[in-house]
Amino acid sequence: MSHKRVAILISGSGSNMVALAESMQGDHPARTCLVLSNRPDAGGLAKAAAMGIPTAMVDHRPFGRDRAGFEAALRDALDAARPDLIALAGFMRILTPEFVAAYAGRILNIHPSLLPNYRGLDTHARAIAAGDTEAGCTVHEVTPELDDGPILGQARVPILSGDTPETLAARVLPMEHRLYPLVLRRVAEGERGLITLP
Ligand code: GAR
Repeated sequence: MSHKRVAILISGSGSNMVALAESMQGDHPARTCLVLSNRPDAGGLAKAAAMGIPTAMVDHRPFGRDRAGFEAALRDALDAARPDLIALAGFMRILTPEFVAAYAGRILNIHPSLLPNYRGLDTHARAIAAGDTEAGCTVHEVTPELDDGPILGQARVPILSGDTPETLAARVLPMEHRLYPLVLRRVAEGERGLITLP
């Protein structure tokens, strides 16, 4: 059996990347073919290298406002690894509709909110400020609209009195690490039904 090839895009510490990469072993239908960062200082790059995964880095900063130029470089690095699926895992650049169209239906993202609530940044602070009683994370297919697209998985946690964005993030992140591998495996198997946790 030939494995599906998964490229994981990161900008930061890469804890979701590690959870995904560790899950792709044994009878899993996919393997990690590349970890790609837009930041040279992303902690996840060293973690991937330590796991024996090929890494690449395309720094967005020299491109300034030239988003097309940045994405052309990103696509060169990605396409060299021939990915079947692309998993955004804390990748903090907005992708253009042209980029998304080039990999239509093959890009997944994890977002730290119960979408459609709180697209964008500062999700946990906004959920606390709104007085919500629960928060969570969502894995979805990436479409041209930001943090939109078919929802493939969702995990919920309570918001407790006294929570700060940091304490809430610390409750949500372990759920991200459970949810994303479950959804990725299902997608690699050709299933796109909704998965909910717990
Ligand atoms: C995760 O919480 C992820 O949901 C979030 O960034 C964090 C990355 O952590 N993603 C976004 O906010 C996307 N807009 P990690 O690098 O340790 O996986």
